[in-house]
Amino acid sequence: MPNTLGQSYLQTSPWKKNLFDGKVVFVTGGAGSICRVEVEALVLLGANAAIIGRRKDVTEKAAEEIGQLRPGAKVIGIGGVDVRDVKSLASAVDTTVGQLGRIDFVIAGAAGNFLANVANLSANAFKTVVDIDLLGSYNTFKATFDELRKNKGHIIFISATLHYTGLPMQVHASAAKAGVDSLMRTLAVELGPLGIRSNAIAPGPIAGTEGMDRLSGKNDPNRFNRIPLQRYGTTTEIADATVYLFSDASSYITGTVTVVDGGSWQTGSVT
Ligand code: HXC
Repeated sequence: MPNTLGQSYLQTSPWKKNLFDGKVVFVTGGAGSICRVEVEALVLLGANAAIIGRRKDVTEKAAEEIGQLRPGAKVIGIGGVDVRDVKSLASAVDTTVGQLGRIDFVIAGAAGNFLANVANLSANAFKTVVDIDLLGSYNTFKATFDELRKNKGHIIFISATLHYTGLPMQVHASAAKAGVDSLMRTLAVELGPLGIRSNAIAPGPIAGTEGMDRLSGKNDPNRFNRIPLQRYGTTTEIADATVYLFSDASSYITGTVTVVDGGSWQTGSVT
């Protein structure tokens, strides 16, 4: 299945075409496989978007391609931004508000990860992943806070299921994502009175993503045995969870993690 949404999403999804007219989404990691499809769904449903990334060419190309999905859509790509640097994020927010007028929705999706056992993981390697995944998520919130407050917005963090069990080779990312869940919950409590919602999505084994390409045993005939729904998920299924959470259908939901994993973690499996 191609990792991009076409116009058919508007016919096959349960959502209304103009659901997000007038809304603007600010996304870190938006050129990556999961976040890109989330943005595509929001843009197809009427939103404008700013995609934030480290690599300028990749980020700008993704923005240009996503912008072509809907006539009149405004999608900007802001490259050269590292989520570990809150000042560069603040500058991206200024550019977004300057060009698109506002920010209603935020997806904190930028992540860094690799497989390494603790014996081979340096202190700096651990810090690097925690800095990208956890500090980067905080910085993304911090930089967008004024816009979220002004527009009674909603922030979605991209979490994981790695930390629900003790997963070898992932001590750095598991610790970081546990922190992301905690950050998300605290923001829900502190910011609820301001009308800001804070939630997370935890993708499980999703086909065609960078994580799965690096983690999964693609040719293993038993690869679905420990997935209760007996298949990998799709990026469209992550997009649909995102649309639901940003829509008014979830207006009383904050402080939650939506796990989109076919039931995998219940069996102790993340791939
Ligand atoms: C052990 C490693 C390592 C590896 C890097 N390091 N790769 N240690 N095994 N495979 C160590 C380095 O030696 C260094 O420690 C420290 O980590 C920092 O490395 P840098 O290359 O200087 O960091 P940086 O350039 O900031 O790059 C960050 C990165 C990189 C996380 C290492 O992979 C990256 O930018 N990734 C972005 C894309 C990405 O990872 N996406 C995955 C998302 S998918 P020393 O001690 O030598 O200084 C996902 C789902 C799960 O999250 C995927 C599971 C694999």
